[in-house]
This record gives sequence, C-alpha cells and structure tokens, in this order.
Amino acid sequence: MLVRIRTPDRELEAEVPYREGMTLLDALLWIKEHEAPDLEFQYSCRNAQCGTCAVLINGRAGLACEYRLEPGEEVTVEPLRHLPVLRDLVVDWREVTERLRPLSPRSNLDWFRRLDREESERLHELRSCIECLCCVAECPVIRAGSTRNPGPTVLRKAAEEAEKWDRVPELEDVYACTTCHRCAEVCPRDIDIPKKAVETLRARLRERGLGPLKEHREVGRRAVRTGRSVEKKEASFLEEHAGEYGSGDVKALFFTGCLVDYRLPETGRALISLAEELGFRLVVPEDQVCCGSPLLRTGQRDRADRLAFRNLEAFQRVDPDVIVTVCAGCGATLKNDYPELLGERFEWEVMDVTEFLVREVRAHERGFKHSEEVVVTYHDPCHLRRGQGVHREPRRLLKAVDGIEFREMREPDRCCGAGGGVRAGLPELARLMADVKARMVEEVGADLLTTVCPFCEYNLREGLERCEVDAEVLNLTVLLARSL
Ligand code: SF4
Ligand code: SF4
Ligand code: FES
Repeated sequence: MLVRIRTPDRELEAEVPYREGMTLLDALLWIKEHEAPDLEFQYSCRNAQCGTCAVLINGRAGLACEYRLEPGEEVTVEPLRHLPVLRDLVVDWREVTERLRPLSPRSNLDWFRRLDREESERLHELRSCIECLCCVAECPVIRAGSTRNPGPTVLRKAAEEAEKWDRVPELEDVYACTTCHRCAEVCPRDIDIPKKAVETLRARLRERGLGPLKEHREVGRRAVRTGRSVEKKEASFLEEHAGEYGSGDVKALFFTGCLVDYRLPETGRALISLAEELGFRLVVPEDQVCCGSPLLRTGQRDRADRLAFRNLEAFQRVDPDVIVTVCAGCGATLKNDYPELLGERFEWEVMDVTEFLVREVRAHERGFKHSEEVVVTYHDPCHLRRGQGVHREPRRLLKAVDGIEFREMREPDRCCGAGGGVRAGLPELARLMADVKARMVEEVGADLLTTVCPFCEYNLREGLERCEVDAEVLNLTVLLARSL
C-alpha cells in the first residue's frame, strides 16, 4: 500500500505492508515507527470516540482510525482544511472549539425544561458530536472563503438549546447555509446538521417573528398567495401545456416546480418530447403548486404545509403510478418532507427524471445522438446526490449519448451556492460559491454543463458569465430531448 503524506512543510511517501483490518491510523503509526520518527499526528481512543485523528483522506475529511485500507490501495493524507497547521497533520482546533464553549446550555443558569420524546431524540443526535471538525473542513461555504457560516458544528451547538437561539452571534449566520448536507455526509456520527440544527433554528426564529430574512419572507408570502415562489412574467408552461402526453403502461405525473413553470419551459417541453418518443404516459396537472422547498429550508413550515395540501389534491385527482420531478429541490422535498407533512395520505413513489428514465423507461439502453461533438460535464445538485442518493443515473444517461465526450469535473458534487435560501437571502455568498464551480467547468474544458436543478442552473449560468467561461448550461432532460 502506498501512503502519501502531504503537509505544508513536506511531502513523503511510504510503502506500508498490508495486514487485514488495517486502518489508516495503523499505517501512520507504522510510518512513524519505521520511516519517519518525527512525523506528527494526533490520536487517542483509536475507536472513533475522541475525534482527534481527523485528517483529509484523498481530499475528504474523515477519521484515520475509522478508515479501513484495502490491499494495494494508494491513499493521500493531508491536514484538515481551514485550520492553522501546527505541524505535519496536527491542526489547531481552538478557533472553532472556543466558539463552542459559550454555546453550552450549562452556561445559562436559567436553562431547565422538560423534553418531549422528539426533542430528546433531536438533542441526543446533536450532542453525539465528537468535535472532530470534519464538517468544518468540508463545508462549501467556508471553503469558498466566506466567514458568514460560523461552521456546521457551531450551528449544531447553537441548536442544542434552540430556545436560546440568541446565542448565535448574528442572525444572518443561521441563513449562511445552503442545506447541502455535505457536513452530514462526512460526519462520523451521522449528525443531520442541516435538518436537526439549521432548519430547526430557522423555524424557531420564525416562531418568534425574528426570521427569516426579508427576501425569504417575500418568497414565502408570494408562494402562498400565487402558488409559485417566483414572480410570473409571461405565459406559464402549465397554462400552455397542462394535459396528457405519450402512451404506455406507466402513468407518470409531471411535477414541474416553480422555475420550469415560470422561467424554463424548454425543460418541460423536453420531458413531453421524451414521453412521446420513448413511450410513457405523462400527465401534467394544471392545479399543482410550489412544492414548498424554499419555505421549508428557511423555517417557514407553516406556509409550506398549505402548499403541500394543495398539491395533495392535485395528486389525488390524477392518482399516478409515479411522480416525476426535473428539479432536485422539488424531488427531495416530495420524497423526504411530504411523508412527514402529509402522513399516509401521501402514497406515491417519487422519482427524479434521471431515475425514472433509467429504471422505468430504460432510456440508457436505447441510445441518443447529439447533433455535434461536444464535451459535457455534470454538476451534482446537493438535493439530488445527497438529498435523494441519485448520482449514477445522470451519468449513465450521458454516457448513452453519441457525440458526447463526458468529462468529470474536479468536484462535481460541491455545492454551487443556490440552495437553502442562500441565493435569495445572501446573493453575494451564492455568487462566491457559483464562481468556484465555474472555474471547475473551465478547467475541465466543457462546452456544456448539465444538471437536474433549475436553481443550480440559474446560479451556475450566472457564475459562468461572471467568470467569462464559455459553456452552455442545460437541464439534462433538455440535452436528451435534443439528442432524440
Ligand atoms: S449543510 Fe452544507 S452549507 Fe450547511 S453547514 Fe452543512 S456543509 Fe455547510
Ligand atoms: S458534527 Fe460530526 S463532523 Fe462535525 S465536529 Fe461533530 S462529529 Fe465531527
Ligand atoms: S483516535 Fe479517537 S477518533 Fe480516531
């Protein structure tokens, strides 16, 4: 096994003899004993309890004592990002841990209340943190250079006693999170910070009339009043295209989402073409409304409830075999939040369009042809990859298109900054994050950037324009329809 250690001061490589069950920490200890006695790294429990052995493993934060090596594996180890390196792999945590201490509930003498079961479970999860700071090293807001987000684990700590929301230094800090779920993905304790901490804090702020930000309130009011989170400009997709298309055994309900209905009708028309050409029945109900995602993510659950019930009626009238979405945010909301909001009344399977085309229609076996040779890359929307676990299907479809050279960008699943109310409430932050992605698109030399989220699409398009990167941005559905 080859272990490569990269630190700001030196780089070393060691061939470490493999033994079964060996962890990366075992390999580091072997290197210290046999190759580099002065190599500095930290560990204590060797059992994923103390959090001290956290490092970057092949660019991703994780615990060295938890990472099992494979025979013949090559692995690169670096110190955690965003923290001052003291020596080799040892970083100074104080910058973050000192922000945690004053947030301890015990620092409030008036802290006492009885917990119901739900709150007790939420707190149990939040308090299982081992302060490894993997989440801080991975948060895309911090990685983009913003100091607005104090760090996922600081938000986590603040939400432990959400009644004391005022211990969060500044209101905007709570909204400087795109709910991308990267922190939850790398957390060795599986703590769902975006849902259990960030969205909870935001909901409590709304209950007290202190949040959300002005722009979020406007979106919330508009969504309840008009059924759409964005303003209407021209005729909507639904006004022109509500109805039934295609034929086949499967009856799919097309849930358009706000942006496809009001801004990106080509994406909607593309799905209709696919239904007609690939042979499935697509029903587009006119009475569907915003899924409520922009409201739920910003703590406006009461308003989202009302939208969910209106959609329930539209779904009941069609009673489809499956609900298909072309927006990662809508899909994640229907899959993850609707069962909670609507209970057993919500009885339909929901699929992202790429999942549906691969699993139900087997479109990847049919073959597509693009009219000209193009280099294409793909951005994984957070609410599709981490929110729905869908990342293979878009790639399978892209690889089935003749004339396309598919190239993976450096970090396809790094958040673009559009979600969680950031684009509406803190647009500068959304811009900063989109520009990071634009540079990745430039690096990979793509002519086309595809994704399956209209919010990402808008944010990325603007980022590419700002950074003067000459690449078109398309929903994958549109690319497939153009390649029929
Ligand atoms: S959800 Fe994403 S943006 Fe929010 S704190 Fe976690 S890593 Fe950072
Ligand atoms: S929340 Fe998870 S990833 Fe972040 S410091 Fe705690 S245990 Fe580590
Ligand atoms: S040594 Fe304690 S978490 Fe790895």
